Amino acid sequence: MARTPSPSKRIAELRAQIQEHNQAYYGDDSPRVSDAEYDALVRELRDLEEAHPDLFDESSPTVTVGGAVTTFDPVVHRVPMTSLDNAMDEKELAEWGERVAKGLPDEAVRYVCELKIDGLAISIRFENGAYAQAATRGDGRTGEDVTANVRTVAGLPKELKASKKFTVPEVLEVRGEIYMSIDSFMKLKSEKERENAERTAAGRAPVSVPVNPRNAGAGSLRQKDASVTASRELSMWSYQLGEVIGGPEFTSHHATLEFLAALGFPVNPEIKLVDSLEDVVAFCNHWKEHRHDLPYDIDGVVVKVDNLEQRERLGFTSRAPRWAIAFKFPPEEKTTVLRDIQISVGRTGRVTPFAVLEPVFVGGSTVSMATLHNRDQVALKDVRPGDTVVVRKAGDVIPEVVGPVMSERKKGTKPWVFPAQCPCPIGSTLVKDEDVADTRCVEPGCPFQRDQRIIYFASRGAMDIEGLGKESSRALVDAGYVQDIGDLYALGIEQLLAIGFSELTATSLMVGLHESKTRPLSRLLTALGIKHVGPVVADTLAERFGNLDLILGAPEEDLKSIDGIADAVHESIMRAMNHKSWRASRSW
Ligand code: IVH
Repeated sequence: MARTPSPSKRIAELRAQIQEHNQAYYGDDSPRVSDAEYDALVRELRDLEEAHPDLFDESSPTVTVGGAVTTFDPVVHRVPMTSLDNAMDEKELAEWGERVAKGLPDEAVRYVCELKIDGLAISIRFENGAYAQAATRGDGRTGEDVTANVRTVAGLPKELKASKKFTVPEVLEVRGEIYMSIDSFMKLKSEKERENAERTAAGRAPVSVPVNPRNAGAGSLRQKDASVTASRELSMWSYQLGEVIGGPEFTSHHATLEFLAALGFPVNPEIKLVDSLEDVVAFCNHWKEHRHDLPYDIDGVVVKVDNLEQRERLGFTSRAPRWAIAFKFPPEEKTTVLRDIQISVGRTGRVTPFAVLEPVFVGGSTVSMATLHNRDQVALKDVRPGDTVVVRKAGDVIPEVVGPVMSERKKGTKPWVFPAQCPCPIGSTLVKDEDVADTRCVEPGCPFQRDQRIIYFASRGAMDIEGLGKESSRALVDAGYVQDIGDLYALGIEQLLAIGFSELTATSLMVGLHESKTRPLSRLLTALGIKHVGPVVADTLAERFGNLDLILGAPEEDLKSIDGIADAVHESIMRAMNHKSWRASRSW
């Protein structure tokens, strides 16, 4: 039976989880949870920290600024910021058109076609013409208060003035997308890379480098210190009204956009008012081909019914308006040369084939490697070194090799053969799993598995050991100091200096190791990377036994009797317990 964890434990868990998500979102560009789930974790942590000021820690993700991540006060949107339904191709676009026509029988329909800006949705509120508040979309109902940050975005009016044509509403909410131009993103990226070269030379941990303009924009907006946002060259396109009280009356969407432009808001010039769905399709196809002519990223086209009274009659589904649709561009594809197919050995021994590619810019970042998943996938795609291949990347998705361009294949090539041996110096025979397509190295002493275990153990999502990355762990292994995780804690500073670590790097690693001992037991258990022991089982074990010695000494029946620990898990724990790294990691 699961008990409620103590506040200190829950706080530690939440900090670890949030840091992991931050790394995944800002560092790796691959969020693992929705914004709403993420926000719920942060809110729970903030509430706990407020209730237990004694557990304050300035490195908590609720206070850190370094990772460009922080939290903001909630803002309830008076008019919800709904999202849009998607049309993935022309057929789905036509189906949407039919639904609209059905809802407005025998009526002419005009559509406004707009670019779908790949940025961060924002709502800016003006009261009596004065800039009052800015909030992110959040879950659509509640967003975050980023008033001070958005104030620094260039080109936004801060004071609205009536013109001959328009009066200023008492309340006006303007909605749009904040984005970073591709040029500004490239500039920021090279600044960060230069900073990292200096930091690495000085033995300091690197800062994260933004991977694409959208993440750079989001990270820049979510800064605790608004002067950092101000230095980041963010821009905005306005495309919709939120709450409006008083002011002029409108009958069409395009008139609201004219109104916004007249008040000084940036409205995208590539907007087209059309009378038929054929023209909508032509607009979509044009921008599908020409998206890269723009100085900012777009990921589709938004089509909206122009007449506001017709919109009202069409109304909303539970999720989105019936009067608008987002036509999403298909994942971007490029061709490049497949230089080689290699295999990598993971920390559990799983062997993954991957493509080594002639670097190619696709889907917003440069790709030089792509996973090929497993042997069946390679066989199915029949990609061969030397082939010209199609590479695809959609949004945050991991790059993939779609397949070879057969017309470009050179004569005499043969299908790639999965290696029979592990590429490590031991070179043990690889084993194919019976029921899944995986191939494994089952040699317990495989140095490649060990290297991956150490790297994983030290990584931010696991024990977060500052100063211990790929290169330093390689150096420690090569010097013969470290055979496995446990050896890390026996290292001395003299040893590090003796193999050429600078004083700064050596000290930072020693501090990093020392600090990692404050991570909770459940995190250590997860970091050890035992097969079947993920965060849930680790929590159960930590809660039940309290310290590592008791787990090591626990009789088999005790382990087996724990809820949620099935035979396979038990076996895996038993095997790992005989491993020396457990015995050496005695500080828990
Ligand atoms: S209109 C109810 N117009 O796309 C209508 N959205 O997939 C609300 N977006 O959350 C949105 N460009 O962040 C609209 N020209 C545009 C847009 C746009 C980008 C984003 C926006 C929205 C998402 C929906």
